[in-house]
Amino acid sequence: MYNFIHLHKYTKNTLIIFFILNLFYIFVIMKNNFIHSTAIVSDKAKIGNNNYIGAYVIIEDNVIIGDNNYIGSHSIIGDTGESIKYFDKEKKGIIIGNNNRFTKQVTIDNGTVHPTIIRDNVLILKNGHVGHDSLICDNVQIRCNGVVGGHCVLNENTILCLNSVIQPRIVTPIRAMIGAASNVTKKSKLISNYVHYGNPCKAIRLRS
Ligand SMILES: CC(C)(COP(=O)(O)OP(=O)(O)OC[C@H]1O[C@@H](n2cnc3c(N)ncnc32)[C@H](O)[C@@H]1OP(=O)(O)O)[C@@H](O)C(=O)NCCC(=O)NCCS
Repeated sequence: MYNFIHLHKYTKNTLIIFFILNLFYIFVIMKNNFIHSTAIVSDKAKIGNNNYIGAYVIIEDNVIIGDNNYIGSHSIIGDTGESIKYFDKEKKGIIIGNNNRFTKQVTIDNGTVHPTIIRDNVLILKNGHVGHDSLICDNVQIRCNGVVGGHCVLNENTILCLNSVIQPRIVTPIRAMIGAASNVTKKSKLISNYVHYGNPCKAIRLRS
């Protein structure tokens, strides 16, 4: 009986220590994010694991970031959407998934009526901009100076080439390629698996 009580106490203490170590692992070790000392990250942002947040990055309130993302220096995630009537309204946030890479100086604006969403495996090169309330689906590439207006949807595997513009509320079909220096307007007829370019942007040929 005496032995049993001692064993019981020992087991209980071991369990408590084990539980505390687990919490420490989950909240401290497992996080494993690199955040450069010059980055400003809101304590209201939720950041997953194994992310790289470079020098002078700003991450504002209402931003949720998943795992394994690379956010290069001078990027601003979560600034107010560029929609004048929403400047002083509540921000609806940004949701970023996993395995995305924003090389440098990328800006992603906060939602005005719903969150701006970046899904997984998205590549955004220098000066790429994603406007408020837009949805950027898996495997999209936005190359240098690519600008996506508000409320757009870039479907899976869309490529927006150098210095191109997608005007607000446009939906690109899956695997559309928008060539360099193009201007996609609401009259542009975009076709899945096609290369498009020009101002106004038109479908040109099948994408290889
Ligand atoms: C869309 C793209 C792939 C088209 O390339 P392509 O099919 O090889 O086209 P070509 O260079 O053979 O040009 C064919 C014709 O289309 C024209 N053209 C090609 N790209 C054009 C564009 N983006 N806008 C307007 N016209 C274009 C050419 O002037 C040429 O016209 P012509 O027949 O009257 O002489 C190319 O314009 C492009 O955007 N490349 C991606 C660049 C990029 O973003 N790189 C990322 C680096 S980070």
